[in-house]
Amino acid sequence: MMQEQALERRFDAATFREVLGHYPTGVVVVTGVHPDGDPVAMVVGTFSSVSMDPPLVAFMPGTHSGTYARLRECPSFVINVLAHDQADVCRTMAVPSDDKFERVGWSMSAAGAPVLDDAVALIHCRREQEVLAGDHSIVLCAVDDLEVVRPVTPLLFFQGGYGGFNPKGLSAVGDGDFIEALRLAETGRPHITRIAERYGCESAVLVAIDEDEMTTADSAYGGSAEASERLGARIPLLPPIGEVYVAFAPDEVQEHWLAKAAKDDEALHHYRGRLETIRRDGYAVVQVGTEREEQYARLHEALDEYASGPLTPSRDRAVREVIAQMSLFFQPIDICEDGTYDLGSIVVPVFNPDGGVSMALRMTQLPQGIDGTVVREWVGSLQQAATEMTSALGHNGHHEALKDYQSWFMM
Ligand SMILES: Cc1cc2nc3c(=O)[nH]c(=O)nc-3n(C[C@H](O)[C@H](O)[C@H](O)COP(=O)(O)O)c2cc1C
Repeated sequence: MMQEQALERRFDAATFREVLGHYPTGVVVVTGVHPDGDPVAMVVGTFSSVSMDPPLVAFMPGTHSGTYARLRECPSFVINVLAHDQADVCRTMAVPSDDKFERVGWSMSAAGAPVLDDAVALIHCRREQEVLAGDHSIVLCAVDDLEVVRPVTPLLFFQGGYGGFNPKGLSAVGDGDFIEALRLAETGRPHITRIAERYGCESAVLVAIDEDEMTTADSAYGGSAEASERLGARIPLLPPIGEVYVAFAPDEVQEHWLAKAAKDDEALHHYRGRLETIRRDGYAVVQVGTEREEQYARLHEALDEYASGPLTPSRDRAVREVIAQMSLFFQPIDICEDGTYDLGSIVVPVFNPDGGVSMALRMTQLPQGIDGTVVREWVGSLQQAATEMTSALGHNGHHEALKDYQSWFMM
């Protein structure tokens, strides 16, 4: 009696659809070639991985689907995982018609099933078993091969609409954020122009966008320095990147930054030491030299990939991993008057009138093999420019923008 009550159905079909519509799915197109020679395609949201040993995947076609009736006769399938920018392909393939394959780009797989252009991943498989499940079937497929062909974010389907995957931290710098950054950076314009010309290097104003990212808001080039960085590109505040902001920030901001570093004690100890040196000296330098060139190039590649976002979570992790490995590359060094230096960059903080730091001035593409006295002159010029920017910020009404910025940066 109790059991009967528990099993009594308390919902109608509309509720079933409504509740399950709150669960999103990815979108795949299952393709094959029918023995009569025609290609077949079916858009499916009910795709899932099932077993690793043996490798099995599954999808669930409706028992009344005419498209599936033809698909099940195909000797092999390709599961094409659609990308975030393929909603049109999805719409084309979902509507029954005879010329679906004339309206999308595709090629034939080695096993003889259609591969759609620009899909994220391909799973080459065969129908192995079919289980009838109410008004749908569960089709188990044995996986023969699989590959990621385009590592971008996938297309998602949710409550009848298409969308993409965009976790916090992967979003691009918004227009509003960038305009704010430009307003702050304009105080540095005359300084970076002068420094770039005088020392034959690249000079830039970096502005923090929030507690996790900064951007190059303005840059100038002198001598043989070449335009290398897109303005407005996203740069992660991730150890060792962004240290001059963090060095002068309250403890909780420093801990937030350090928590993103590699989790070993040696690296954390190293970063804390580095922040201390920056607070003591008032600037940060990075040494290059021939033995470090390769590492420096890898760091730049990682930063370029980050800026090209939004990245898939796995590429995002890979890029962060490369950056995290650069910790020992950022060694604290003392600039001595009788030393000779190969520097990658010099960065100084630009203090806000109320003591916080929201901008930094940077010199890169520096001439190499330079005497300590000259390096000290470079640092002095940057620090002088930063001081003048601070006083300009106090006088010309930029302060309001700064307050906004600080409320983000303080979390
Ligand atoms: C995003 C999306 C997901 C879909 N998922 C499934 C599914 O899991 N199973 C299914 O039988 N049909 C699914 N369909 C519907 C089929 O793709 C297809 O439109 C339907 O089978 C119509 O053709 P047919 O009447 O020949 O089957 C989906 C359609 C869309 C747009």
